[in-house]
Amino acid sequence: MSDAGSIKVWVLVFVALFGVGTVALVGIGCAVGANQCPFVKNKALTTTDGMTLYQSTCIGCHGARGEGGTADAPPLRSGEAATLTLAQIEAKIANGKPFFMPAYSKKKKHGTFSDAQIQAVAEYVISLRTKS
Ligand code: HEC
Repeated sequence: MSDAGSIKVWVLVFVALFGVGTVALVGIGCAVGANQCPFVKNKALTTTDGMTLYQSTCIGCHGARGEGGTADAPPLRSGEAATLTLAQIEAKIANGKPFFMPAYSKKKKHGTFSDAQIQAVAEYVISLRTKS
C-alpha cells in the first residue's frame, strides 16, 4: 500500500474509534441518568418541599442525613458545610461545581430548580445539622 493510502486508513480508524468512544460515553451517561445526558432534560420536580427535593435529588451523593461519603461528596451536616450561610448553600445548589456536582438552577443548562425550590432545599440542608 502507498504511504498516502496507509495514512488514509489510519485517519479512518481514528475517526471510527473516536465516534465509537463518544457514542459509548454518551450512552453510559444517559443510562446512569447523568446530568450531562444531552437527550433528556431532567424531569422537573414541582414541589417546593425541601425534604422531598433533597431526598429525590441529593441523597445519592450526600447521604440520607447529609453524612456525605458518596462520589466524593462532603458531609452537609458537619465540617465545613455546617459553617455555610443559607445564601452560600443556595449558591452552591444553584451553581454546582463542574464535574463534581450538578448546577440545579433553572437558569443553568440542565438545571430544573426554581429559586423557591433552591431556598427550600437549602433550608432543609441547614436543618440536617441538628437532626439525629
Ligand atoms: C453527583 C453528586 C452530587 C449531587 C447529586 C449533589 N452534590 Fe452537593 N456536592 C457534591 C460534591 C462532590 C461537592 C464538593 C464540591 C466542591 O468542592 O465544591 C458538593 C458540595 C456541596 C455543598 C458545599 C459543601 C461544602 O462543604 O462546601 C453543598 C451545600 C451541597 N453540595 C448541597 C447539595 C444539595 C442540596 C444537593 C441536591 C440539590 C446536592 N448537593 C447534590 C456532589 C453532589
